[in-house]
Amino acid sequence: MSFSIAVSGKGGTGKTTVSALLVRALVQAGERPVLAVDADPNANLHEALGVTLEGTLGCMREEAFRESIPPGMGRNDYLALRFRKSLVEGEGFDLIAMGRPEGSGCYCFAHDVLKTSLHLLGKDYRFMIIDNEAGMEHIARETIGVPDLLLIVSTPDSRGIRTAARINELARSLGLSQVPMRMVINRWKGGRVISGPSVPETIATIPEDPVVLQADLEGRPVGLIPRPSAAAEAVDRLAREIIAMAR
Ligand SMILES: Nc1ncnc2c1ncn2[C@@H]1O[C@H](COP(=O)(O)OP(=O)(O)OP(=O)(O)O)[C@@H](O)[C@H]1O
Ligand SMILES: [Mg+2]
Repeated sequence: MSFSIAVSGKGGTGKTTVSALLVRALVQAGERPVLAVDADPNANLHEALGVTLEGTLGCMREEAFRESIPPGMGRNDYLALRFRKSLVEGEGFDLIAMGRPEGSGCYCFAHDVLKTSLHLLGKDYRFMIIDNEAGMEHIARETIGVPDLLLIVSTPDSRGIRTAARINELARSLGLSQVPMRMVINRWKGGRVISGPSVPETIATIPEDPVVLQADLEGRPVGLIPRPSAAAEAVDRLAREIIAMAR
């Protein structure tokens, strides 16, 4: 089975940036293939990784789960086949995106499809990085299953840190207490970072990096930013720690 890492945190703290840099760092460390999972209905991890998204799981119709299974084929084999068709191939990684349901549909189905796909596809990969939407939807709906590691990304300000503490509390109350949870402090500009009750231990501190900002301003994929980059180097160190945890 793959080692799965769910990336959570308050809006705009850098979940997608960290996820994309982590995918690249793991691939470059030889830990391939990696499955990059965009669990944000407003998909943008593909842009951060520099690949083109052609479809999302949210577009799959419910009939695919019931009526169109070819005779003689098991349901899970059929679904895995369908999910593999939704993958975007990158260099050393594949990407799958949840997307949003068409029209005004409920998001339950999209979350359910994502959950099933992670379960069925996970075994094909060394690592799985799940970039989540802001907040706690993915935990409350149990979309991410039971990950091997929950990374909570926060900027050093108190609101981000308080959100991290709440995510930690919710995850524990929903039975994820055995999952290791770690803080990733992003956009660090020096100085002490506040802590408090329920704030998980910090595994990485990623500096504010003009190379990341410049890529963003120019619409270039952050996953491909040139070195030297203090942020990319900090994520390389994070990847090495995670690889050691996964062994
Ligand atoms: N270390 C960094 N240095 C400089 N800018 C950064 C850094 N990390 C992220 N950013 C910038 O912060 C902004 C938000 O980043 P990102 O989209 O990764 O956050 P997010 O948590 O995924 O947001 P959302 O909650 O909307 O999904 C982007 O403009 C990004 O370029
Ligand atoms: Mg994001």
